[in-house]
Amino acid sequence: MQVDVLLGLQWGDEGKGKIVDVFCPKYDLIARFQGGPNAGHTLEFDNKKFVLNTIPSGIFNEGTLNLIGNGVVIDPIILKRELDNLKAAGFDPVGKGNLVIARKAHLILPTHQLLDAASESNMGAGKIGSTLKGIGPTYMDKTGRNGLRVGDTSLPDFMDRYEKLKQKHLSILSHYGEIPDFSEKEAAFMAAIEFLKTIPFVDSEHLVNQYLNEGKRVLAEGAQGTLLDVDFGSYPFVTSSNTTTAGACTGLGIAPNKIGQVYGIFKAYATRVGGGPFPTELENETGEKLRQLGHEFGATTGRARRTGWIDLPALKYAIMINGVTELIMMKADVLDTFDKIYVCTHYKYQGETIDYMPYEIITHKPEPILKEVEGWNTDLTGIRSKDELPSALNNYISFLEQELNVPIKYLSVGPDRTQTIVL
Ligand code: GDP
Ligand code: IMO
Ligand code: MG
Repeated sequence: MQVDVLLGLQWGDEGKGKIVDVFCPKYDLIARFQGGPNAGHTLEFDNKKFVLNTIPSGIFNEGTLNLIGNGVVIDPIILKRELDNLKAAGFDPVGKGNLVIARKAHLILPTHQLLDAASESNMGAGKIGSTLKGIGPTYMDKTGRNGLRVGDTSLPDFMDRYEKLKQKHLSILSHYGEIPDFSEKEAAFMAAIEFLKTIPFVDSEHLVNQYLNEGKRVLAEGAQGTLLDVDFGSYPFVTSSNTTTAGACTGLGIAPNKIGQVYGIFKAYATRVGGGPFPTELENETGEKLRQLGHEFGATTGRARRTGWIDLPALKYAIMINGVTELIMMKADVLDTFDKIYVCTHYKYQGETIDYMPYEIITHKPEPILKEVEGWNTDLTGIRSKDELPSALNNYISFLEQELNVPIKYLSVGPDRTQTIVL
């Protein structure tokens, strides 16, 4: 058996949570492989809505085990809150035993968040627009070999290790100015660590490979999106992990030749939250219309998402980096009332026409070259079969498939689980 991977091809918030929830009955294990509570994955079913930050989106399917992999960074306070909320809504993954955590996953400390905030406020206009969840500083400690891991919480000297790392953080923070009081947060962190220890710790590399050897089906769930990847995104306006297929290998402990299908998710248009280049951005009424119709406000921070037209050079790049085998187009319904839709096919860049993402897009902005496409002017939200799709939408899908050279296998026409069409 091989591990299938589902990940975002744009700047995050493509609808990964919804589709993992739709797919999970076919899988025995759903495994988050990177990122942390900077993610907000929304699921809707039976008139209920849930936003998951750390917990994999297979959690509502009883027969599926959910793994928070070694590549993830965990804020125990947020994880506890997520689980408390689920319990209040009648779901109890800890009681039911369908959630496990990798021992090798790193912990986000309260001081990591202070460092994130201090670093961002020090950057002024060039700030990244971080979610301020402490993601960057935690990954810095991981690669700097100072981090605290989930498995460390069971060691007798955990408190010494915690104090040592905290002191290091306080010494850095003192260079930024006055350090805010975080005693309440620290107490909540310690309480959440005790709670964390009630969830089984596993070695994700052994668990996932054992599942494969037993012929069980595994789906790796990405967070953020390819254009936020620390190596291949619009650096430095990125997150601090590999959001791409390669990240599933290091973030779970699976060999590259164990990767099966790679599902690439994208919106029928584009959004970005936070700073950084966005070639097709619409800072006008059309952009506002997309934001309102698409409810483009962050699931984690509530910030308004920037909006724009779909960007094919960026999507082609994402497909290449990830080895995407099947595409999933989300939020087609948001375009239902647009007479004309636009697709960026090339960029005008430093006097030339190009169809790839150039290295330097921050000081030299690529200008999008747009192709006009007929809108479908049809309410898609009630459609469940591909045979009922309007011809203008079929033309849009065929055009994208031809350009991207990968089939679009699923179409999403609303936030609910049932609003998903197999093409
Ligand atoms: P994720 O981070 O990739 O899981 O995506 P988010 O949950 O942050 O953002 C996607 C948003 O779009 C959520 O509010 C979803 O409920 C919603 N959504 C998902 N698919 C569709 C769709 O096909 N149509 C509409 N209108 N909303 C959708
Ligand atoms: P999901 O999984 C959209 C963005 C932030 C910021 C940059 C760095 O829901 O798609 P960080 O907190 O990681 O240091 O922020 O990355 N960002 C996301 N944007 N969706 C996400 O996750 C994101 N996670 C981080 O807005 O620009
Ligand atoms: Mg999101």
